[in-house]
Amino acid sequence: MKNIKDQENLNQKKVLLRLDLNVPIKNGKITDQTRIDKILPVIDFLLKKKCKIIVISHVGRPKGKINNDLSLKPICENLKKKIKKEITLIKEDIFKLKKEDLFQNTENEIIFLENIRFYEQEEKNDLDFSKQLAKLADIFVNDAFSCSHRAHASVSKVAELLPSYAGLQLETELNALKKVTTEIKKPITCIIGGSKISTKIGVIKNLIPKFDNIIVVGGMANNILKYKGNQIGKSIREDNCESIIDDIFKASKTHSCSIIYPHDVRVGKSIEDSPQIKELKEIEVDDFILDIGPKTINNIKNIIENSKTVLWNGPAGYFENKNFANGSYEIAKKIIKHNKNNSIYSVVGGGDTIAVLNQINAINEFNFVSTAGGAFLEYLEGKELPGIKALN
Ligand code: 3PG
Repeated sequence: MKNIKDQENLNQKKVLLRLDLNVPIKNGKITDQTRIDKILPVIDFLLKKKCKIIVISHVGRPKGKINNDLSLKPICENLKKKIKKEITLIKEDIFKLKKEDLFQNTENEIIFLENIRFYEQEEKNDLDFSKQLAKLADIFVNDAFSCSHRAHASVSKVAELLPSYAGLQLETELNALKKVTTEIKKPITCIIGGSKISTKIGVIKNLIPKFDNIIVVGGMANNILKYKGNQIGKSIREDNCESIIDDIFKASKTHSCSIIYPHDVRVGKSIEDSPQIKELKEIEVDDFILDIGPKTINNIKNIIENSKTVLWNGPAGYFENKNFANGSYEIAKKIIKHNKNNSIYSVVGGGDTIAVLNQINAINEFNFVSTAGGAFLEYLEGKELPGIKALN
């Protein structure tokens, strides 16, 4: 894989730069800027080399439709302030854009294309769409490790059509994860939470042979609780997961990996509510499970204490309401404690997990923090990620 930092003659080259600026946004305001901060080095590098930068990113999952709530505008504004440069957000249909129309104002160094997932062709890894993207630039740089598990046009296909390079952050993340997976010490505990159930539930089965404990919290835990015959009220869950969960429990027996899930919870009648601690049998039909309960937290703490490596992706609850962030905070504090006395090696990953850690100023207290969530888990599975494969 070629890295952009080793390239000569970048002067005036038009660079299609895939970033992952999928940051949490609430009421038009960015609530965690870590992913933006992490790409400042590649922007700085390309500007110093006098490149013209065309930034591509997605935010959220607009499913091929224009959705103004998922515009890149607030991110553009944020980056503008950070780097003190003018940035134009191009809202025009990408199919109508021509290379020579971009950067007509020679002062302009950076433009943003609007949320790439407004185009249904993006997630289909569509060839014509990728060709259109490729026509806009001279080279392609992927500095979005956190979406390199997606075989999408702006991550994968376009890399086949232009001279393509890894970005600075992508290389850092990849090297760190390579080191973690080759030097990993047992017992290994993996904590998986968050709300992206469909992205992660399939991954668990493949992680079972590699790990000693898999702790399932967050949205996915609701699916397990339901599978085990518990009432989960109005909590988020995904349909048709029974056979995957069946496989997970069968594989866990074969490979002696413990699957741990909540046995008490914090619920609310809405996501804005205050928490009520409940045993599983007390959950009502109009309850939302929004965090793990104290007994579950203690159990998780014991497991962390007896581990040598802890990998964590995805919050334990609806941390956006601080009333339901306790489970995630307690997990973080326990890992940090054991990290400090060097009894464990810890890696955390994912946009929401980073946001939780920033809430308690704990981002620098782990051995490695990856911006990637789904990509981090798929890397741990041992899969070749499409975005990385395309660069190779
Ligand atoms: C992430 O947040 O993990 C990446 O931006 C990928 O987002 P996705 O799960 O919607 O593809």
